[in-house]
Amino acid sequence: MKTYFIKTFGCQMNVYDSHRIAGILEQRGLQATSRIEDADLVIFNTCHIREKAAEKLFSDLGRANLVKQARLLEGKNTIIGVVGCVVQAEDEQVFKRSDAVDFALGPLTYHRLGQVLDELEKDSGIQVIDTEFPAESKFDFLSENKAEGVCSYIAIQEGCNNFCTYCVVPYTRGIETSRPVEDVLREARKLVSDGALELNLLGQNVNSYHGEDKAGKERNLAYLLRKIGELDGLKRLRYTTSYPADVDDDLIKCHKDMKILMPYLHLPVQSGSDKILRAMNRRHTKAQYLDVIDRLREANPQIGFASDFIVGFPGESDDDFQATLDLVDEVKFITAFSFKYSPRPGTPAAEYPNQLPEKVKKERLAILQEKLFAYQTDFNQQTVGKTIEVLFENKGRHAGQLTGRTPWMQNIYAEANGEYLNKIVDVKVESATMNSLSGKIVRM
Ligand code: SAH
Ligand code: SF4
Ligand code: F3S
Repeated sequence: MKTYFIKTFGCQMNVYDSHRIAGILEQRGLQATSRIEDADLVIFNTCHIREKAAEKLFSDLGRANLVKQARLLEGKNTIIGVVGCVVQAEDEQVFKRSDAVDFALGPLTYHRLGQVLDELEKDSGIQVIDTEFPAESKFDFLSENKAEGVCSYIAIQEGCNNFCTYCVVPYTRGIETSRPVEDVLREARKLVSDGALELNLLGQNVNSYHGEDKAGKERNLAYLLRKIGELDGLKRLRYTTSYPADVDDDLIKCHKDMKILMPYLHLPVQSGSDKILRAMNRRHTKAQYLDVIDRLREANPQIGFASDFIVGFPGESDDDFQATLDLVDEVKFITAFSFKYSPRPGTPAAEYPNQLPEKVKKERLAILQEKLFAYQTDFNQQTVGKTIEVLFENKGRHAGQLTGRTPWMQNIYAEANGEYLNKIVDVKVESATMNSLSGKIVRM
């Protein structure tokens, strides 16, 4: 085996996992390819969160199988693996999706990938699966993480105990676990010394982090943020995704006195109706959510909020939906992800009798998105004329153009030569659309 191809579905945690999987493969001497036809090893890192996400895998596996057959005619073998949340949810069933699948690993067992490849190299006729919730932590068995560029991610927490009634995550990622403080710090130090200027701490429920320090004492996210915030050379710090009920005073204080902490917070609310929030088993009401927002705004008036919404949850009435629209008007989210409720096998809400027709879900999503997009566009347009610090991460589509992110995660383009790449630069915003800004470099 010489080359590998990975396709990643789902959330940032999967993106992080794919990056670590690539690390395992590169240690074995494999090289990345972006062309599936050239790959000796093809891996799909999958998501089970909504039906659409899970279904995408079918068509990809179909295509991968055709490639596998074509390569076989040229005398080349291809190993196809499925990893991630679909594997955890479907277990052995995952092999029914396609004959072409050689191995399947759940999201908590991908550190065993090396062993699996050894087994397959010995006997190519077998199918290997591992969906254990292992006692050991995968992080203890991975080699050091490499910086992905100036912006790097670190998984600090995984899994979830909240059991929202619509959600598969507690089943696919298991119960909540936090990595020890020292492990996270070691990874952070390494990434910063490799050139990362921005770190984003990841977890399905990142603000319920409770990792142990050296002395065995449990520490919260605020403690970890402060420790990482002290690292020399680091310029920006973020964390995602947070659960509203777990935002504590310590964390709010970080937003007041840590300049390095970016003024952007992804705080999913799902619905503005208390009745629906209860049916969803969310541990917060609309009023409690708004209170958290107020306290954060008091700590740092610059904070922009992002959120997630589900429309058409079982039993959602017109009034419930209106309450969601009202909440959007109150908070004025700077960006948001919104979804039609998708019943997931094994979750309680999928069994609720009062499911809504697709037509209603579709209409509500369109109405909600129109509102969300208008606020997003507004926010972007408010930045026109202002000078903002931008971290340039990539070359733009056109020559002489760079793209980067503002503190609020907005995409921004500017005419600039390569010397500004991987740097934080002052940019004066000249125009804005819903999805991006463009501007001119003022000075460094
Ligand atoms: N842990 C995060 C979210 C993880 S899933 C949190 O609770 O904030 C990402 C988003 O997918 C959720 O916020 C939710 O809006 C959406 N989602 C999860 N399950 C869904 C389902 N069954 N149907 C539609 N959207 C869903
Ligand atoms: Fe899913 Fe709820 Fe946990 Fe988020 S908090 S991962 S939506 S169960
Ligand atoms: Fe999807 Fe698993 Fe993330 S279900 S959203 S990849 S935790």
